[in-house]
Amino acid sequence: MRLLVTGGSGFVGGHVLRGMADDGHAVAAVVRGGSDTSRLDTRAQVLVHDGSTEGLHALVAGFRPDAVLHIASKFVAQHQPADIDPLIEANLRFGCQLLDAMSRSGVDAIVDFGTSWQHFHTAPDEPQAYHPVSLYAATKQAFQDLIRFYAEARGLRALTLKLSDTYGPGDTRAKVIALLNRISASGETLAMSPGDQTFNLSHVDDVVGAVRVALARVTAAPAGTVESWAVRGEEQMTLRDFVQLYREVTGRAVDIEWGKRPYRDREVMKPWLGPLLPGWRQQVPLREGLAALVADV
Ligand SMILES: NC(=O)c1ccc[n+]([C@@H]2O[C@H](COP(=O)([O-])OP(=O)(O)OC[C@H]3O[C@@H](n4cnc5c(N)ncnc54)[C@H](OP(=O)(O)O)[C@@H]3O)[C@@H](O)[C@H]2O)c1
Repeated sequence: MRLLVTGGSGFVGGHVLRGMADDGHAVAAVVRGGSDTSRLDTRAQVLVHDGSTEGLHALVAGFRPDAVLHIASKFVAQHQPADIDPLIEANLRFGCQLLDAMSRSGVDAIVDFGTSWQHFHTAPDEPQAYHPVSLYAATKQAFQDLIRFYAEARGLRALTLKLSDTYGPGDTRAKVIALLNRISASGETLAMSPGDQTFNLSHVDDVVGAVRVALARVTAAPAGTVESWAVRGEEQMTLRDFVQLYREVTGRAVDIEWGKRPYRDREVMKPWLGPLLPGWRQQVPLREGLAALVADV
């Protein structure tokens, strides 16, 4: 297949691009003028988007993909006023330009990424009810509404993978594993919240596996099909449990002062456990994935 990928310069997108090229697909990465393309898989055709609607249309029409993997996004845990424009730009304007370019070019299948944060709390009988944790999550939901128009009016087939937390090689984000690596090396003490929030982690290889399943599913679906499914790690644990696992797996000491920081506003204490992508399951157990990851650090 010919696959057009956005967000290929990011953590998940970089792995997806490589995985799809490994599978023998012809891949193109849509990047921005200022994107760091130094780590992009060399098999990817690099398409630089000038930011305009017509510019993106020309790129999509020129590459003629069979499907689009839309991974680009702006993430902010707690937004400040200055974050509004970048959130709207990345998560809505760019996404809308993409959907429109696809529609005008006759490209009718998309896999995109949502977040478990679209579901701060849900009742068991309404697992997909929308309750955003943050403005970021609200913009991800708004993109789903844009998809709905292109599905109903233009026959787009769309499948959204809602991720929880992820980890794996090449992750440059300041997430918990990076923090623990840092303090185990420096010996400093880290002030944390009480640590009773439960979460799960997916290895990025499992996310790539989910994209494979999603791609097969969306390209076989009838015109106008819109679906969203969860992709998450099987092991649910508290932050305290995870720090203990890190100590066991790495043999490293980490000094944490629990309860020195408050939980953040709308902290997710219990993660969303919505329906999993049919035909997909986690292949990389957390203990194994973590051991492989920290072996190199
Ligand atoms: N990783 C997770 O744990 C997690 C959890 C839940 C949901 N997700 C979702 O999964 C997807 C991948 O996340 P990630 O963690 O891999 O993201 P990431 O590492 O932050 O990468 C973001 C990507 O989006 C691109 N981007 C940002 N703003 C853009 C814009 N205005 N126009 C075009 N491209 C833009 C970036 O390009 P530049 O290089 O040009 O900045 C980069 O390639 C996202 O949709 C995210 O919302 C991820």
